[in-house]
Amino acid sequence: MEKERLRCPALEAKIATAEEAALFIKDGDTVATSGFTPSGYPKAVPLALAERVKNGEKIEITLITGASVGSELDGILAETGIVKRRFPYQTNNSMRKAINKGDIQYADMHLSHVPQFIDYGFFGKIDVAIIEAIAITEEGHIIPSTSVGVSPQAVANAEKVIVEINTSQSLALEGVHDIYMTKKPPFREPIPIVHSGDRIGTPYIVCGSDKIVAIVETDITDKVRPLGAVDEDSKKISEHIIKFFEAEVEAGRLPENLLPLQSGVGSVANAVLAGLVDSKFEDLTCYTEVIQDSMFDLIDAGKVTVASGTSFTPSEEGLVRLNENMEKYVKHCVLRPMEISNHPEVARRLGVLALNTAIEIDIYGHVNSTNIMGSRMMNGLGGSGDFTRNAYISIFTTVSTAKNGDISSIVPKVSHCDHTEHDVQVVVSEIGLADLRGLSPRERARAIIENCAHPDYRPMLLDYLERAEQTPFKHEPHLLDEALSWHARFLATGTMKPKVEKQA
Ligand code: COA
Repeated sequence: MEKERLRCPALEAKIATAEEAALFIKDGDTVATSGFTPSGYPKAVPLALAERVKNGEKIEITLITGASVGSELDGILAETGIVKRRFPYQTNNSMRKAINKGDIQYADMHLSHVPQFIDYGFFGKIDVAIIEAIAITEEGHIIPSTSVGVSPQAVANAEKVIVEINTSQSLALEGVHDIYMTKKPPFREPIPIVHSGDRIGTPYIVCGSDKIVAIVETDITDKVRPLGAVDEDSKKISEHIIKFFEAEVEAGRLPENLLPLQSGVGSVANAVLAGLVDSKFEDLTCYTEVIQDSMFDLIDAGKVTVASGTSFTPSEEGLVRLNENMEKYVKHCVLRPMEISNHPEVARRLGVLALNTAIEIDIYGHVNSTNIMGSRMMNGLGGSGDFTRNAYISIFTTVSTAKNGDISSIVPKVSHCDHTEHDVQVVVSEIGLADLRGLSPRERARAIIENCAHPDYRPMLLDYLERAEQTPFKHEPHLLDEALSWHARFLATGTMKPKVEKQA
């Protein structure tokens, strides 16, 4: 192993094959790993673990990660039946299928809660941590790769630590990380971040050579997720948001360079941020969770001075671009533990502008980000709740229809609620923007229907609202037996539009 990757001579004796390292994992263990939105997750050791099961061993584990991880971890371990319990976020098809089939017990959590769940022992004891790193320091501390996530707490609490040194990950990442650990209550102190770029910790995860039981070298690259192209709908959503920000600046409610932006995961979120490249805004800062491709566009255009997050979350093309220009991006970015990147205290102090994507939004402003048709887990809540509840302004975006227009993303009542009306301040679709601040539920309903619903569904939504308003309880009126009939109709007929009877 190269000396610049393993700088602690005492640890040379711990160099192992992936197969040898995987033997440290026992049936019934709780395993916590690095990795966040398939970035910086361990690959060689999970693949070797799966081989043991394919060869007839019984191994069942609880798996905790920062967020989503790739096929070499979530995919293979779900397919081989190794994972029995999974926390807190996933995007892998095999994992999603096993969760929705009921084979894996999954709890979808606010990401900022996960590190303290580990610290407080709410998940029980952590037997093994597997951390992807670019290098190990002279003292045996770990320099993570393209994400930090929950790794610092995993290392601090695990009995045994396995490190995967990934030589496909650039050594130029060194210096981008800022690892700060909070103390447990009642000794917890304020987190001293007052600007997005403030550095308050160490550039490595404190570990020490004693805890490390195996060091595995690998060059398997991250299986990052593709991003959809910036389409017309996303462009329009972005334009509505930029116009809204301009009006807020004009009204004196936002400074000219805005406040730190947070942008969620996925194609729409990426496209929305990309729209800022051609806006008049300058000197932007970001205090966010994931640094997607569009952030590189903003940095290259000189629009963003600093972006703080917990992971680089590039597409395949984005990963090539990141690696080719690492030194430049490292200067403008800080990767923090997800406890800090998503911390409510910091988000509230900085006055984050939170931009997250919904699966569906109801007329009163409740948001479903996770469960399609009420019960099919898509990915998870991620950090959307951490930011939404604590933002200066919380914005949700959605395209007004899904599945070629057969589903309205604006519905009478969400089929599952992740973000309540109390936390959602602005709703945006390609049709327009509804500013809900200071509005009562019925005022909100009209604002959302008129500004965000697709014209094909607007009359149906208005009809629902007007009939609901005939009931005696008029604060947030509902016809409960009808409220979810839209979803039931889609499941029965393949469209939310009512069947039009043929004229005789
Ligand atoms: N009803 C049914 N299905 C819907 C739907 C609706 N109203 N809206 C979207 N979908 C489906 C799409 O058809 C697509 O399905 P497919 O994978 O079978 O093609 C899928 O949901 C994803 O939709 P897409 O339009 O590709 O969205 P996206 O890539 O922008 O992701 C979320 C949208 C909501 C799934 C994603 O942002 C997410 O997981 N959010 C929660 C976590 C989060 O916000 N994290 C950020 C915190 S920093």
